[in-house]
Amino acid sequence: MTRQTEGGTTKKPACEGCELGRRDFLLRASRTALGIVVALGGSAMPASARPLRLIPSGEDLNGEKAYPIPPQDGVSIDTDNDVIMVRHAGRVYAFALSCPHQNTALRWRKADNRFECPKHHSKYGPDGTYLSGRATRSMDRLPIRRAGDQILVDVDMVFQEDTDPTGWAEAVVTLS
Ligand code: FES
Repeated sequence: MTRQTEGGTTKKPACEGCELGRRDFLLRASRTALGIVVALGGSAMPASARPLRLIPSGEDLNGEKAYPIPPQDGVSIDTDNDVIMVRHAGRVYAFALSCPHQNTALRWRKADNRFECPKHHSKYGPDGTYLSGRATRSMDRLPIRRAGDQILVDVDMVFQEDTDPTGWAEAVVTLS
């Protein structure tokens, strides 16, 4: 369960499906010489449901994780910190990997340009907006900001749309 804090954000919940999710991602991935992992290979998981890219754990900078600005639109996952990074339509978002309904690890469905939960099939847009399903809010966003050519994310906190709609809406980096 999540825990409310004074700042309106909540502690990021444990992801019940994340251990399975990590194995799932890693079993289908191949690490490149640069340390960036690209999802490859055939399996029972349809191609459209595989993540596009895994990224190494962000460098720790005074409690925040630092990531390079995604060079193009797409979805990346830091499995060490259960963070989904999205660049979409000139904006960058960081999401909790866990579904806000019952904390199952979410999947990116490239062909449909949306996220989907494998447990009860809630669907979310690339900006995390709730589309349909049992979930009652959009994907949880993490505090995010830009510092030069890096994106800094507080991986220990989340903004939940239903309890902090302003914080949730402002958890975005707009690229100019
Ligand atoms: S756990 Fe994701 S919709 Fe139920």
